[in-house]
Amino acid sequence: MKGEVKLEDLEGIGPKTAEKLRSIGICSAKHLSLFNVDELLNLVDVDERTLRRALAHARSIFMPLRAIKALDNLAQKSLPQLTTGVKSIDLLLNGGLRPRAIYELCGQPGAGKTQLCLQLSVTIQLSANKGGIGGKCYFMDTEGTFSLSRVKVIAERFGLDSEYALSNIYVIDVINTDHLLQVITSDLVRAVEDGVKLVIVDSLMSRFRTEYAGRESLALRQSRLGYALDWLVRIARLYEVIVIVTTPVMEVPVAFVSINERLRPVGGTTLAHATTHRFFLTTRSERGVLRGTMTVLDSPSLPHGAIASYLITDKGIEDA
Ligand SMILES: Nc1ncnc2c1ncn2[C@@H]1O[C@H](COP(=O)(O)OP(=O)(O)OP(=O)(O)O)[C@@H](O)[C@H]1O
Ligand SMILES: [Mg+2]
Repeated sequence: MKGEVKLEDLEGIGPKTAEKLRSIGICSAKHLSLFNVDELLNLVDVDERTLRRALAHARSIFMPLRAIKALDNLAQKSLPQLTTGVKSIDLLLNGGLRPRAIYELCGQPGAGKTQLCLQLSVTIQLSANKGGIGGKCYFMDTEGTFSLSRVKVIAERFGLDSEYALSNIYVIDVINTDHLLQVITSDLVRAVEDGVKLVIVDSLMSRFRTEYAGRESLALRQSRLGYALDWLVRIARLYEVIVIVTTPVMEVPVAFVSINERLRPVGGTTLAHATTHRFFLTTRSERGVLRGTMTVLDSPSLPHGAIASYLITDKGIEDA
């Protein structure tokens, strides 16, 4: 299988070069093909000609080098869809979440972003006839909000043994933005090669906002954010995985509009361009029941402004 091509199988790569690449976390030929030559030159002491030759070989195995007619693009047509476990949201998504795309869930604190992520870390494991993809989840937790007890309850709701469900979720505490990038470019790819089909970054912005606070560091923040997102896009497309990032909202001072109209996603155009589908989540409490709505903000295939309703309950996210 293509996924099992070893570094040593690439032209020009002997045991010593392979060892150097492994020491920086590159685990396979496919993993190597995600990098460009300049990135590798910055990371590892291997001569440029060797790297160029190996990369060209890796690309010839894992990437199309010739365009095909859209009519013949069967790969696109046969992509599976992942259920959220909530009918109204699946309907909004035109059936479910699709691999190769970056989904952004943005919303106020308590809107249900983390709850939905936890739910998806379970539904991804379901078999295709139950709306899943039979894959594992990789959960990058930047705020310490991953909850074992919530996953257990949600797993039981979907008929999975809770221990089995937890054994299929990789969780990593992300401490800062350098750490995030290191994890994305190395350990995440290892896990994806081990069956991860859903990648979650909850929340993507928190580290960037605190480490690069203030206007003077905005340009640097955006360029680093853009780079991290670019890596998520590369992985999503080459390995056909689903990526979900959560982001907070900020309030802009506009007079005479409702609170929801004053809320905007953070992350600027960098985030807006890198994500495939953006959704705005909001909740309100009605007689002790938490009711939420998910609205399409920006999507190449879903109508702007389309809305799904949900409830946040002790069992996770459910239909309203
Ligand atoms: N066991 C539970 N039973 C019912 N509701 C719960 C339970 N656990 C959490 N919630 C509700 O879920 C909501 C929190 O949702 P969540 O953590 O997903 O918000 P969020 O959008 O991720 O917010 P933030 O931006 O702060 O990360 C809370 O309002 C809480 O009341
Ligand atoms: Mg959260």
